Amino acid sequence: MRQTNNIATLLQQSTHLLTKSLTPRLDAEVILASALKTNRTWLYANSDSIVSPEETAAYLVKVKERGKGVPVPYITGCCEFWSLPLSITPDVLIPRPETELLVAMTLEIIKRSPSRLSMADLGTGSGAVALAVASETDQPMIAATDLSLSALRVAKRNLHQLDYKNVIVLAGSWLNPFGRKSLDIIVANPPYIGREESHLTDAAIKFEPAIALFSKNDGMQEIDCIIVQASKCLKQDGWILLEHGFQQGKKVRSSLEHNGYSQIHTEKDLNQCERITRARMS
Ligand SMILES: C[S@@+](CC[C@H](N)C(=O)[O-])C[C@H]1O[C@@H](n2cnc3c(N)ncnc32)[C@H](O)[C@@H]1O
Repeated sequence: MRQTNNIATLLQQSTHLLTKSLTPRLDAEVILASALKTNRTWLYANSDSIVSPEETAAYLVKVKERGKGVPVPYITGCCEFWSLPLSITPDVLIPRPETELLVAMTLEIIKRSPSRLSMADLGTGSGAVALAVASETDQPMIAATDLSLSALRVAKRNLHQLDYKNVIVLAGSWLNPFGRKSLDIIVANPPYIGREESHLTDAAIKFEPAIALFSKNDGMQEIDCIIVQASKCLKQDGWILLEHGFQQGKKVRSSLEHNGYSQIHTEKDLNQCERITRARMS
């Protein structure tokens, strides 16, 4: 590829290097916009602008990474969740659109409550869920926790950028940082992929941290652990909301029932797959 190009030509030529991607043109535009520290709208409006040889070389390095399957957010260092711009590194899961349902269901509960609530987002990763809730309301005090210290660094960076005063970031395994009957709402998108299913799911997971993805016992071990611990840490009438695999709804509901929860309900995501189950501790 020539080293002096205008934006239109560079995009056209480099798209051919991304044939394995389902969205080659979009990927090329997002990566070029990030490399030039601009946005896609600017690229369209300035498609005749010349890209310097240095910028072209830096861009092509990133395109080759994408050609090897590296997810776009790990290349650009950012992604959007609940319309928030989040910093992302390979230390955290790339937030998925279906997790926005977890946010929406949590907000529904918060908005019904007249009193100030205490909430924990367990396994916060980039901070996506806690920060999305905080972007809508400063009502609950939110503790965003994770076992992974490198993930917590990313969550702290995002919290610093967004500057929500009602969120704190804490290290610890699931509910260990919390006392008995101390929380009104517990939300989690825990690792829930069974080791044996790792070949079935989307291409990004090859590059994402194993601690964010996999769980023993057909993917149920961490979910079960949270359900048991949460039954002690929730206040009376407190809520738990859990994201899970599309085939795990029945097992999650039965685990919740077995541990004394009521008002158990599962919502489907936009693909009509069971995705989020909520329940109440009475
Ligand atoms: C599926 S990711 C979810 C990340 C983020 N909440 C999201 O929805 O994008 C699961 C997260 O749980 C964390 N995690 C795994 N085991 C944990 C444990 N025992 N205690 C706390 N967090 C844990 C991982 O580090 C990872 O950040």
